Amino acid sequence: MTTSSVAEAPITSSTPAAAVSEVVYFDGRYVAKSEVHVSPDDRGFLLGDGIYEVAAAYDGRFVALDRHMDRLRRSLVEARIDGDVADPLETVFQELLDRNGFGESGKAMVYLQVTRGVAPRTHAFPKSHPRPTVYAYAASFAAMGDLAAGVGAITRPDIRWSRCDIKVISLIANCMANQEAKEAGAFEAILIRDGVALEGTHTSFFAVVGDVVRTAPLSNLILPGITRELVIEAAERDGIRVVLEPLSVDELQSADEMFITGTTTEVVPIVTLDGNPVKSGSPGEMTKRLMQLYRDAIRV
Ligand code: PDD
Repeated sequence: MTTSSVAEAPITSSTPAAAVSEVVYFDGRYVAKSEVHVSPDDRGFLLGDGIYEVAAAYDGRFVALDRHMDRLRRSLVEARIDGDVADPLETVFQELLDRNGFGESGKAMVYLQVTRGVAPRTHAFPKSHPRPTVYAYAASFAAMGDLAAGVGAITRPDIRWSRCDIKVISLIANCMANQEAKEAGAFEAILIRDGVALEGTHTSFFAVVGDVVRTAPLSNLILPGITRELVIEAAERDGIRVVLEPLSVDELQSADEMFITGTTTEVVPIVTLDGNPVKSGSPGEMTKRLMQLYRDAIRV
């Protein structure tokens, strides 16, 4: 018979290195994670009524933090959550790195979310105008190159809402599709709407057709990925032609290369789609070139 303590948090392989002394930011204060108490009336908890942002830092320096801050402000405006909460948050990103030992070396990400705050459950915004709840933490993430050999992806219908351009915390459709990918032994699900491939459940999606790089244009149907933007800029600086037009389901079958991008995913080749090899089944030359260009752009 084994004994166990229900009060003890399980240590899992995904527990960040700094978990023991983890300092998080909650409602204006830096506190130990164990001291955070979220109200059951928080609209994030009850209604998924909130937005979030994720930024990555290499050796203590954030990649494109200004763009992450701009996207955070835009998410707040579009979700009609008080935008003033964003003002001190740039400092919070940096401070969380420093307070968790990521300030000088290694790779770390900061996750930050803002909900509409605590109020009795109603669909309409609370008349009491509660203070938004702000929570942020830092964690390490896997080294670039871990997935350089490529990953599998599956295609799934995009059942999300039609404001995918706002980085909202209500992610159940993304979670369900990603779980299906995991159950199929794949890393990501590429979401298909109206016959075209839009993006992954937590990544932007690109394909290479001949010598042209293709990805969906910005619209209400995809998140304006910051890594996507950095990769497009790096490609164009290097003379690579990028066309903002999504691949149709038919074109997916014959694409030469595919890859996904994201803040913590970086640039990762897709080598199988729905169980079939993408061309040779190994990372293509253009993808490898873009992986290097992205590394150079963020200088790691
Ligand atoms: N995911 N598309 C979706 C639906 C995303 O959730 C993400 C990011 C991206 C890539 O965006 P960026 O390059 O700005 O990270 C595209 C984050 C990291 C997440 O949910 O954890």
